Amino acid sequence: MAEHSFPPDFLFGAATAAYQIEGAVGEDGRGDSIWDVFCRQPGRIKDDQDATVACDHYRRWREDLALMRELGLTAYRFSISWPRILPDGEGTVNEAGLAHYEQFVDALLEAGITPYPTLCHWDLPQALESRYGGWRSKEVSRRFADYAGLVVGRLSDRVTTWATLNEIDNMTRRAYHRGASAPGLTLSRQVGAQTTHNAVLAHGLGVLAARAAAKRPVAMGLVEDPEVFWPVWESDEHVAATWMAYEASWFNRAKLLPIIEGRYRDEHLAAEGADAPEFTDDEMRIIGTPLDWLGLNCYRGQPVRAVPGGLGFNTMPIPAFDTGVTQISFTPLALYWMLRWVHRLAPELPLAITENGLGCSEGITTDGEVLDVNRKEVLRLNLECCARALAEHIPLRGYFAWSLLDNFEWGSGYSVRFGLVRVNYATQQRTVKLSGNYYREVIRARRVL
Ligand code: FCB
Repeated sequence: MAEHSFPPDFLFGAATAAYQIEGAVGEDGRGDSIWDVFCRQPGRIKDDQDATVACDHYRRWREDLALMRELGLTAYRFSISWPRILPDGEGTVNEAGLAHYEQFVDALLEAGITPYPTLCHWDLPQALESRYGGWRSKEVSRRFADYAGLVVGRLSDRVTTWATLNEIDNMTRRAYHRGASAPGLTLSRQVGAQTTHNAVLAHGLGVLAARAAAKRPVAMGLVEDPEVFWPVWESDEHVAATWMAYEASWFNRAKLLPIIEGRYRDEHLAAEGADAPEFTDDEMRIIGTPLDWLGLNCYRGQPVRAVPGGLGFNTMPIPAFDTGVTQISFTPLALYWMLRWVHRLAPELPLAITENGLGCSEGITTDGEVLDVNRKEVLRLNLECCARALAEHIPLRGYFAWSLLDNFEWGSGYSVRFGLVRVNYATQQRTVKLSGNYYREVIRARRVL
């Protein structure tokens, strides 16, 4: 393979999430999600913005699909809104919600774009929060499995590859312990660990339910964002120290490691003591259900060096460049070393980069162009990391840029833009940015330009 090139079946995609782009929160029978309620609480979101309209994608999806074609995407990662399918979180199915995604998926397929849906990208139905305490309860893990079976049962005649959940920590520890994500609670550290376990369990139950309900074989996975480290330079001692850093991370020990290994490591449980989650052996077997693929999100990573004594390693500041407005972390090697670490843990597992990109607040020129050279550079360097991983025979199946469109960036509202395509929120006009044009050329050439 020529340097920095991609095999013919490598997928070039972009990613979004339902809550961040769809808008139409009250339309066609959709119920409230915990994020709708969170957004209504003053002070939670920058400038008290909300996602009631967002990119109006629920109505404008045909236009957005045309943009995907224009960019030449071969895959698209999106999420299905649980409260659109089950407004009450469980029970009565909202046929209009299912019909929307059926229609959308059919159109993607017709355009030759492989759908990569995620079943829940943080937008838990509020009814399940009110009724059971959300992810604090294993009832909700079971409700997620019912929902996964329902949706996969319906769409598996046309969709093969599925992710259960996206970035578990943001729905659990950050939501129930740190208070920064919906529902915004600041409960104990143990609750943080328990909600994490319950969501990890929901993933396992969801995989089993989806496989049982599918009309034909499906590829089940999840999307995680491991805590990422990379060697300060690539000598044996710093690489060995990097592996230690990955496996000492609470973040990795609480989610990806148990999902891959089917157990919590003894040193993790010992370190957690009374804060460890309650779990059973049976649950761990379910959690360890073999995956068909794994999606990895990566935005940053810390450099690591070997040091004598102590833990044997330490982490250093993330290099950044100053754009005059924001300090942008500039860590393209992070993505490569994340792939190396996961591949080392699970050598057979097919991988995909399911999110990677750059958030900033670039403007538009008087000529109507968006010259997001920083984002374009981040894209280029990360694609080089993908090509390097492929050259080393890591089974990387695709790369999804975050994001197709500027969108509602959770607590940051609309102040941070991640899109390959700019959205003017006043007019809903879309403008392909420099980074989008660059990505289209890369896709066409199938090599890093
Ligand atoms: C990830 C989220 C995604 C988006 C990006 C910028 O953590 O999965 O929804 O907000 O960050």
